[in-house]
Amino acid sequence: MEYRGRIPDEKIDEVRLAADIAEVVGRRVKLITAGRTLKGLCPFHGDTDPSLVVNRARGTWHCFGCNEGGNVFTFVMRDEGLSFPEAVRELARRYGVPMPKPKLSPAQQREQKHRQRLLRVLELAGKFFSQQLAAPVGAAAREYLLARRGLSPQTIEEFGLGFAPEGWEHLKRYLAAQGLDERLAMEAGVLAAGTKGRGAYDRFRDRVVFPIRDMGGRVVSFGGRILGSGEPKYLNGPESPLFRKSRMLYNLDRARLPMRRKARALVVEGYFDVITLSAHGFTEAVAPMGTALTPDQVRLLGRQADEVVVVFDSDQAGRKAAERSLPVFLSEKVTAKALLLPAGHDPDTYVREVGAAALEREVAAARPLTEVVLDMIVQRGDTATPEGKSATAAACGQVLGAIKDPVVRLEYLGRTAAALGLPRGVLARRLGLPEGDTPAAPARPAPAGPRNLAANTQSIILEGALAATEAAAALAAGGALAMVTDPELAPVAQAIEAVLDAGGQVTADRVIQTLADPAAAPVVSRLAQRAPLHDPRRAEAEARALLASLERRRPRRSRSRLQAAIAAAEAAGDLAEVARLQKQRSQMSSSNLVLKPEKD
Ligand code: UTP
Ligand code: MN
Repeated sequence: MEYRGRIPDEKIDEVRLAADIAEVVGRRVKLITAGRTLKGLCPFHGDTDPSLVVNRARGTWHCFGCNEGGNVFTFVMRDEGLSFPEAVRELARRYGVPMPKPKLSPAQQREQKHRQRLLRVLELAGKFFSQQLAAPVGAAAREYLLARRGLSPQTIEEFGLGFAPEGWEHLKRYLAAQGLDERLAMEAGVLAAGTKGRGAYDRFRDRVVFPIRDMGGRVVSFGGRILGSGEPKYLNGPESPLFRKSRMLYNLDRARLPMRRKARALVVEGYFDVITLSAHGFTEAVAPMGTALTPDQVRLLGRQADEVVVVFDSDQAGRKAAERSLPVFLSEKVTAKALLLPAGHDPDTYVREVGAAALEREVAAARPLTEVVLDMIVQRGDTATPEGKSATAAACGQVLGAIKDPVVRLEYLGRTAAALGLPRGVLARRLGLPEGDTPAAPARPAPAGPRNLAANTQSIILEGALAATEAAAALAAGGALAMVTDPELAPVAQAIEAVLDAGGQVTADRVIQTLADPAAAPVVSRLAQRAPLHDPRRAEAEARALLASLERRRPRRSRSRLQAAIAAAEAAGDLAEVARLQKQRSQMSSSNLVLKPEKD
């Protein structure tokens, strides 16, 4: 359920402290003890040699293979494709932390009540349809599902399939007998409004029905297929406050976890494709409901899986659909592959007639959607005449121009140029695209000023700060955290300062929670893994030693500047300043100190 309003920080802390990171990660991967940490195979990349470590003391996890990491929330977000508030709520539920009820305005409360009533209608309608399928009146529908569509009773049950019998008022009477308001049933889409003063009637008649569920598994609408032939073949419930077709995907509630486990989503066209694929082990399959893929749907998919494989029919309509979906994937920056099935097949018939192993091979060999679409454009274009070639180039340009990643765009520019038999530069000029093949000017190295510590030293400061709150406080007061200026590390230093400012305990998992940019979480989990596990007193002593060594280093590095400052002060006749600077110079240590992390 969506949370309206922010979850209070204290609640987030409470959940984080209640949730055991080893247990949360351990539910997903087998962890073995390795010294003070736990190790396992990383679920987020093809890990063969355990590169995931879980640091119970720090509340962090980190994969040294794919450099992902963070705290308990980050793990659940990544693993289950949840947003931050969803992850907090999920863990709160698992660990029995009571969450405050979101504060709703009276209008919102009425809306919520209303939604609940609609859900109740839909739930009852689903029950009615299932009963009808099992009853004698559903014999032909059962036969259709089992014999014609090759489904098992178990699959029928899993997907909650049902039957809406012939006739105008079966469901209507059933709902009325339960005391449900007809207008509510109309809004839920299961009854349709009669014309010319005639009453409402059953929308679905003599159809197999598919419950459509939201992410939380609640029935929000139905799709219905006619048993034999007839028009329309499929009928979907209308848009309603619960059923927003363009923002949902059929079966996403059940496919979500398989998608994450397989790091792959399959998108097919129809209800039966999803159901049959799922029954054959492709549990990561979903489908839009009779519409082209929308940006919302693509975003939803991108959150669940690294790779989306869209399966198209190889007919004209399938090719058009592939072409139409490409700009959506490109603008949402979601990686997509395309699989064009052999003519005459859809995923449903393919997996039943050719087999699951063959389909798996096809899916594994699917090519990038961009590549497939560009090939289609080149193939159907006229490349025999100069003018035709130019027009084909322009059509490819529509696609190339929409690719945001310059590396990817340059690659496809090269491929397309080759396919058209043109030099890349000429094609780029025709399309008004930067050719991108002049080498970039080398980045100027940052000037090595006195406060510009080596990144390694900056890491050591942060590791020291992550060891204990006392150490962090000492390093902040001594100005060491402010010396952390490396672009990767500075956000961590800022988060540590923010935790201190809020009077909190500096622990790695809390620092992760406080990061302004959550993308920096793996930096903290990596540092946390290296930070020594000292008791607070020892950690603070180490921090002070570190500060002292930084102090001794600083002037040595700026000796020449100091010299220049003295000369300037002398020239300006500022004798007091000259004396002060000379004192500083005389205090400079000549020791050549190198900062080394403590071995623990
Ligand atoms: P299709 O008619 O392309 O084929 O519908 P299908 O899924 O293979 O149907 P079967 O195998 O003959 O049962 C694909 C999807 O398009 C939507 C439905 O969501 C369907 O699953 N559709 C199709 C409609 O919404 N209305 C229609 O009349 C037809
Ligand atoms: Mn089909």
